[in-house]
Amino acid sequence: MSRATRVFVTGAAGQVGADLLDTLRGVTPLGGDTSFQPDAKPVGESEFEVLGLDRHDLDVTDRDAVLRSLRASRPDVVVHLAAYTAVDRAEEDVERCFDVNERGTQNLSLGAHDVGAHLITISTDYVFDGTKGAAYLEDDETGPLNVYGASKREGERHCVADDTIVRTSWVMGVRGKNVVHVIAGRAASGATVRFVDDQMGTVTAASDLARSLVTLVRERPGGLWHVANSGATTWYDVAAHVGTLLERGDDFATPIKTSELSPTPLASRPARSDLDTGKFTSSFAALPAWRDAVARLVFELGRDKVTP
Ligand SMILES: NC(=O)c1ccc[n+]([C@@H]2O[C@H](COP(=O)([O-])OP(=O)(O)OC[C@H]3O[C@@H](n4cnc5c(N)ncnc54)[C@H](OP(=O)(O)O)[C@@H]3O)[C@@H](O)[C@H]2O)c1
Repeated sequence: MSRATRVFVTGAAGQVGADLLDTLRGVTPLGGDTSFQPDAKPVGESEFEVLGLDRHDLDVTDRDAVLRSLRASRPDVVVHLAAYTAVDRAEEDVERCFDVNERGTQNLSLGAHDVGAHLITISTDYVFDGTKGAAYLEDDETGPLNVYGASKREGERHCVADDTIVRTSWVMGVRGKNVVHVIAGRAASGATVRFVDDQMGTVTAASDLARSLVTLVRERPGGLWHVANSGATTWYDVAAHVGTLLERGDDFATPIKTSELSPTPLASRPARSDLDTGKFTSSFAALPAWRDAVARLVFELGRDKVTP
């Protein structure tokens, strides 16, 4: 019998990390789709030996610690999820954001190569400026509008051709903080919401991303990959969909323009940064439709479990 694939995961306590650890261990994450696995191969018992590290176990900005940890554990694959993800706060915390997202990714890329492991790292649709007017392909020109996007792009640039870079967007897990929790909480409390209808993107359920990452851990393809649920949408459409799922009336969500947001968010965001996932779809499979992904999330949060 072949030995288990050893997988080293940074940012394991984050929303994607929690779902990835479950999936690698053969457990369906909360809100996961049991019928979806891009390479149609269920996770075998003992297929993976998983080492999940949170910030307290390993600070990715500490190069010596990263090298020591990788040399001690000798993984086959490194999935680098640790990141500074507070997009607005990053505008006032530039150095720290670049430390984690640029230099952290550089450390993981160097460390993975030092031990002969394959690196899979996660980037974002915010590397794009949103002016293309169509869904973004992997080789489209980047032009980040905010500090977070710029730091993630620099992280990408420190990777080598053999590394796999997964760009994803609007990630939502049952665990972790994200917009769906906020919208569902408002719906449960009887409040209404206002969301922008002039920012278009692609929603990604953390559980569907986790299953896609398992396929990439097996295949280790290298290069850039766009991974998101199927179909582009706006934040207003997401809010209205959650309202419908929770049986709120048509007046639950009101569309507004970005210019009407008050206070004005610190970070600019692209008006249209939906990801073209055709490469992943033709190589493996399309991720489920975004409406189904959000429905699974809302179902799992449950009317009773949603905290207003
Ligand atoms: N969330 C999205 O909408 C989205 C969209 C596109 C791409 N992505 C990318 O997807 C990946 C996973 O994101 P996520 O949604 O799971 O984010 P998350 O929930 O914020 O998780 C990120 C994790 O990284 C940890 N971390 C922060 N600084 C660290 C450091 N110096 N050393 C080690 N760990 C550190 C955080 O710990 P603390 O909580 O203790 O700080 C947190 O547990 C990231 O690369 C992110 O940039 C996310």
